[in-house]
Amino acid sequence: MSETITILVATMSGTAEMVAETVAERIEEAGLNARILRMEKLKEPAVALGKGGRWIVCSSTYGTGDVPDNGKDLYAALDSERPDLSALRYGVIALGDSVYPNTFCFGGKKFDALLSSLGAVRIGERLEHDARGPDYPEDLAAAWTDTWLELVGDVA
Ligand SMILES: Cc1cc2nc3c(=O)[nH]c(=O)nc-3n(C[C@H](O)[C@H](O)[C@H](O)COP(=O)(O)O)c2cc1C
Repeated sequence: MSETITILVATMSGTAEMVAETVAERIEEAGLNARILRMEKLKEPAVALGKGGRWIVCSSTYGTGDVPDNGKDLYAALDSERPDLSALRYGVIALGDSVYPNTFCFGGKKFDALLSSLGAVRIGERLEHDARGPDYPEDLAAAWTDTWLELVGDVA
């Protein structure tokens, strides 16, 4: 059985979870396994992510550029334990709203910066969705996932 790609979700009002459903469908349509996991459900994140593999972080932004409440423990655990994540390949879907120009998509951006500082390698560009823009996040995420999957195939 091929490796499972896990989509880690941090959300306040459910948009990121809906986006993750679309991403999971695209992954499975490509013949790979996908699972969606809310961040607070990931046990021992430093250990789990330290094992490597391919992961997608799908996070919205709240407060003044904060990660959603259900992602705070995971963020804090990685930030304090500082595991070696050099075996991890990841993608980031960041949800935000340009009404907050100074903290636009900071939730996803913060996860991206943290993972990268721990040696993880991002695959492809970060997707940033603006709730004020014309596009539905799931439409952008579907196209982004197809590109990401092509790149995933190239990265050892
Ligand atoms: C109280 C509140 C604060 C927010 N703060 C930010 C912010 O600082 N930066 C940003 O880009 N978006 C911010 N947003 C926008 C959300 O991240 C955006 O609407 C997102 O699509 C919500 O996704 P979710 O339903 O998965 O939580 C905020 C939204 C609310 C309601």
